[in-house]
Amino acid sequence: MAVDLLLGLQWGDEGKGKIVDVLTSKYDIVARFQGGPNAGHTLEFDGIKHVLRTIPSGIFHKNTINLIGNGVVIDPVVFVKELEGLDKFKLDYRKNLFISRKAHIILPTHRLLDAASETSKGKAKIGSTLKGIGPTYMDKTGRNGIRIGDLEFENWQKKYRALADKHEALIGFYNVDIQYNLEEMEKEFFEAVEVLKTMRFIDSEDYLYQAQKEGKSILAEGAQGSLLDVDFGTYPFVTSSNTTAAGACTGLGIPPNKIKEVYGIFKAYTTRVGSGPFPTELFDKAGEQMAKLGNEFGAVTGRPRRCGWLDLVALKYATQVNGVTQLMMIKGDVLSGFKTLKVCIAYKYKGETIRHLPFNIEPENVSPIYKELPGWKEDLTKLKDANNLPKELINYIDFLEKELEIPIKLVSVGPDRTQTIHR
Ligand code: GDP
Ligand code: IMO
Ligand code: MG
Repeated sequence: MAVDLLLGLQWGDEGKGKIVDVLTSKYDIVARFQGGPNAGHTLEFDGIKHVLRTIPSGIFHKNTINLIGNGVVIDPVVFVKELEGLDKFKLDYRKNLFISRKAHIILPTHRLLDAASETSKGKAKIGSTLKGIGPTYMDKTGRNGIRIGDLEFENWQKKYRALADKHEALIGFYNVDIQYNLEEMEKEFFEAVEVLKTMRFIDSEDYLYQAQKEGKSILAEGAQGSLLDVDFGTYPFVTSSNTTAAGACTGLGIPPNKIKEVYGIFKAYTTRVGSGPFPTELFDKAGEQMAKLGNEFGAVTGRPRRCGWLDLVALKYATQVNGVTQLMMIKGDVLSGFKTLKVCIAYKYKGETIRHLPFNIEPENVSPIYKELPGWKEDLTKLKDANNLPKELINYIDFLEKELEIPIKLVSVGPDRTQTIHR
């Protein structure tokens, strides 16, 4: 049985949580492959709104196994709070939530290092969510990290102490003023680790191999977005993992030839939270309207998201590095009421018109070239059938499909599970 992937094509927050939840009933297993609690995946159903951080977005479906893969980094403190947040739903997560022994652990000092690094950068800061993501992945690739499987051995605390002490020395090296009480942070951390240890740890790559052999269907859930990928994103304003399709192979142990569908999800416009270049960013009333109607505030930090027109140059690039086979578009409803819509189809770059993403897309190098399309007035949020979409929206979708050369198979018209139109 093949594995399908769902991943974001922009700078994150493309509605991955909602759509994974919508698709889960078709899958036996949903597996997160990278990122950590920098993610905030929002699900809405039956009048409930819930944000997941590390736990896969299939968790509300009782018959689906949810797996946190080896590519994910886990903060025990955040994770335990996340479990507590699920308690009211009466889910049996000790039965259907598994954690890879090879997933790395975010220590309290990783969070402090994140803060120290960001503070030291001043205006050049990445705009990190300050969840310790970068420092944890640095320890992973530096071969110093502590993994979930280590918790099953007696001496892990010795390893912990040595690493935390080294981190404290490094924090001193940054020479910045950050206030913290490590003793309190560690107390909370060790308590959370005890709860974490009651969860089911597995050798997830073998589990997934056997599951495939038995014909089980698997959906791999990405976090962040392709333009935040550490290799292919807008470096250095990126996260520290591979958010693109290849990240699912390394983050779960899935061979490339087992991947079938790659669902690429995008917003009908563009948003970005944190620093870094954003060629189609708007600083006018249109941008304000998107932010207001789209309720564009980060699910993790509450920071306002920067908004702008859809950037097809960046989107096409993302479809290429991921090998997207089907597109999904969310938040078309937010654009209702715009008389005309702009879509960036090329960049002016060093006096030339280009249609690919160059090495550097800082505003001094790149300016967007737009095509204008007519907007639609209708409220989309109650629509159920693709045939009833306004003709201007169908025209918008047709234009995107032609430019991107990939079909848009799903259109989301509101945050709720039911506000989803299949085409
Ligand atoms: P994720 O990180 O990719 O899972 O996305 P987030 O949950 O951070 O951000 C997406 C936001 O848009 C959430 O608040 C969703 O509830 C909301 N959302 C998802 N799809 C739609 C849609 O089609 N229309 C509207 N208006 N909101 C949506
Ligand atoms: P989901 O999965 C949007 C951004 C941060 C910052 C940069 C680096 O909800 O789409 P990090 O904490 O990883 O060191 O931050 O990446 N970022 C996200 N932006 N959605 C996310 O996740 C993000 N995770 C990280 O704002 O610019
Ligand atoms: Mg999010």
